[in-house]
Amino acid sequence: MRSIFVRVFLTFWFASALMIVSMAVISSLTNAHPLAHRWLARSLNLYAKTAIDLYEQGGETQLQEYLAAIQDNSRITATLLNGSSNLSTNPVPSEALALLRQAQSEQHSVYAFQSQWLGVVRQAHDGKTYFFVAQVNPARTYGSLIDPRKFLFRVAMVLLISATLCGLLARSITRPIRSLQRTATELAKGDLSARASPALAGRNDELASLAHEFDRMAERVQLLLDQQKLLLRDISHELRSPLARLNVSAELVQRGDTASAARMQADIRSLEKMISDLLTLARIDASDKHSRKEAVHIGRLVQQIVKDASFEGVTEGKSVVQTGVFDRHVTADPGLLHSCIENVVRNALKHTPARGVVEVNIADASSHDAPMIAVTTTDEGKGVPEHALEQIFDPFFRLASSDSHRQGGAGLGLSISRRIATLYGGEITAHNLDHSGLEVRLRLPTARHKSL
Ligand SMILES: Nc1ncnc2c1ncn2[C@@H]1O[C@H](COP(=O)(O)OP(=O)(O)OP(=O)(O)O)[C@@H](O)[C@H]1O
Ligand SMILES: [Mg+2]
Repeated sequence: MRSIFVRVFLTFWFASALMIVSMAVISSLTNAHPLAHRWLARSLNLYAKTAIDLYEQGGETQLQEYLAAIQDNSRITATLLNGSSNLSTNPVPSEALALLRQAQSEQHSVYAFQSQWLGVVRQAHDGKTYFFVAQVNPARTYGSLIDPRKFLFRVAMVLLISATLCGLLARSITRPIRSLQRTATELAKGDLSARASPALAGRNDELASLAHEFDRMAERVQLLLDQQKLLLRDISHELRSPLARLNVSAELVQRGDTASAARMQADIRSLEKMISDLLTLARIDASDKHSRKEAVHIGRLVQQIVKDASFEGVTEGKSVVQTGVFDRHVTADPGLLHSCIENVVRNALKHTPARGVVEVNIADASSHDAPMIAVTTTDEGKGVPEHALEQIFDPFFRLASSDSHRQGGAGLGLSISRRIATLYGGEITAHNLDHSGLEVRLRLPTARHKSL
């Protein structure tokens, strides 16, 4: 049985058939008569009582009228016997003869609900014993096959109804699965815009939420692939300029222009940095929750970065200071966390004017029940135009007039920092200061166990 539809259908059908059969067995074992049988027995008793009363009061004429009336109104052919003598002109139906004999010998009313419904009601009145023999005429049928009293017809109806219901149920379960399967096939063929939820509009169950999750996954894959394509395009574009310059310099060196060698070295350095940054980006993408992580002492990490940056800034009289709390830990890959903060501090140092000050502050920034810290780097540079405060975190984004361009930055630093922050459940944002300068705020969850 390959198809889920067939499996679900047969399981439900078998279950409902089993239920019907067991109910029939239980009711026959417990002698539970269907409501219709009990209703008929009571009605026949009433008819019998009325017939006897009418006979005793008005004789055979009244009895005959009454029997004709119930024949017309209720499709019941009946006759009344006193002992064994028939009081009406109606003969005892041949099908009821055996039943009558049984009632006479057993001295009580008997009913039969086989292909025909028959009843012999025994009632004693004023020393006489009456037998009211009734035959319920069949309901209208449509040919010999469509006869509600026939066992085969009933079985066929039960099977048909339960098959229809089970078929509908199985279809409602398998339809969303088929739609998911179709979408998966389309995605596999390369159509990343294929989605499963539109086919399940109006549904609000587990399968619909599975389809929603499936679509979210497809959207994420599409977004990631689009981003990768953009990144690849940007990388090739960025590599082209230093390579073209290297070509020209190489030719100049060949012609004896040794001064171009220094330029070649600078271009090679910038290529090296770009490649190492790209490798860091690839490393972040490959990292996940299960990659190497440890409790990193954030105070000491910032101290190291500040020390290196101060050394670099000394020639231009720039200073880098660390303030705020010290003993906090963040669970992360120490190398990636170092790159994340260093990129921001290096930018601040690059953009702060000569003799300017860069401050790196660590503070508690917990929200609700999540313990967090904020590493805020401020400089005294010109800041960033408001419209570009988000864009500076895009790969290869540089401000046209910024000094970083002149200094050969590839525009990868902040995008690397943002990806690392996101990887560890944090965030990074930039704001211009009221006076002059940029503030870059990195928020990260702190480790619960401050063990090293
Ligand atoms: N502190 C800052 N002050 C002013 N502008 C900044 C500052 N930090 C970043 N920027 C702007 O944001 C751009 C992107 O920064 P990012 O660090 O991503 O790249 P980069 O520094 O130019 O190059 P890279 O970091 O790859 O060497 C910079 O080119 C610069 O224009
Ligand atoms: Mg940078």
